[in-house]
Amino acid sequence: MKDSFGREISYMRISVTDRCNMRCKYCMPEEGVENMGHDKILSFENIERIVRAAVALGITKYRLTGGEPLARKGIVSLVERLAKIDGVEALTMTTNGTLLADQAEALKEAGLQRVNISVDSLKYNKYEEITRGGDLDAAFAGVNAALHVGLAPLKLNVVAMAGVNDDEILDFVQLSINHPIDIRFIELMPIGQAGKNNGYRYLSSDEIKSKLPGLIQLDKQDGVADLYKYPEALGSIGFISPMSHQFCGSCNKIRLTADGKLKPCLHTDEEIDLKGILQKNDDELLQDTIRNAILRKGDKHHLNDGGKPVDRSMSQIGG
Ligand code: GTP
Ligand code: 5AD
Ligand code: SF4
Repeated sequence: MKDSFGREISYMRISVTDRCNMRCKYCMPEEGVENMGHDKILSFENIERIVRAAVALGITKYRLTGGEPLARKGIVSLVERLAKIDGVEALTMTTNGTLLADQAEALKEAGLQRVNISVDSLKYNKYEEITRGGDLDAAFAGVNAALHVGLAPLKLNVVAMAGVNDDEILDFVQLSINHPIDIRFIELMPIGQAGKNNGYRYLSSDEIKSKLPGLIQLDKQDGVADLYKYPEALGSIGFISPMSHQFCGSCNKIRLTADGKLKPCLHTDEEIDLKGILQKNDDELLQDTIRNAILRKGDKHHLNDGGKPVDRSMSQIGG
């Protein structure tokens, strides 16, 4: 369906848990965020009901996120349930990859089509520092397993940060040359920990591009990413630039948090609670509520013109 600004909304991001097995410095405080109790988290049955209602409104693409979606028990069975729904055309996941190696094959068999994996450094000590203890080998075991079972095309998300990983840009680019991996540099957004002054500094996509002579711009865009490539490379290079080149005009998304709130926009605190509605067992009302939430989407974010960042952390919203 179209929102009130004429944008076709066809993509729902579903956060299945706010928990994560890592503590990336720009995303979570060291002690973590207080976990939602199990009773607050949507059941798989309710997620399925929401997806069925959303499909009826023309939402065809679904992405499972977290926290870390693979930290949710039984995630393969959720994938299986959602993949079976008529009208779910794309079913994907964004993960840190460290729990993926063991589950990649089962996820693929259950109907997951592809994964985006977040890896912000290719250096062991740096990766461990950014993630506060994460294991780069485990992340790459996940990358390799995804490639092996055909969870592809595979995208590697890299949040670009000045003074943190800007010395590794060429190493990431090299990966896209030698492997069928699409690298996407993401501009740091002031959400959660990244909105606090913790030494993690924004680096614009233009600055990265200026370090990459010979990049060829591709005609197509891929979702929110502007795409480039080196000749002969197996993968592409994408730039996701929500800060320097706002893409709200072509936004096609709505977000569902793990505790059952619809977020019309990543960058506003407005949330529409579906939990109360789900209890009423009225699927028409559920559909109307989702429709109304879509109609409440604003035209754009205001982070560049004085707007304040949202209260919730990225791990709670799901990216
Ligand atoms: P594809 O289906 O592969 O295109 O995935 P995706 O880019 O939609 O999903 P992914 O989880 O890999 O998103 C990467 C990051 O891009 C997000 O976590 C955000 O940081 C950023 N992003 C994606 N969509 C939006 C959006 O609507 N607004 C803003 N501000 N940032 C977004
Ligand atoms: N700015 C930009 N990207 C972020 N992510 C998490 N927090 C931020 C932020 N403040 C990224 C993750 C992951 C995706 C879901 O969002 O690294 O790739
Ligand atoms: Fe869409 Fe809001 Fe992201 Fe803009 S900031 S692209 S409106 S979700």
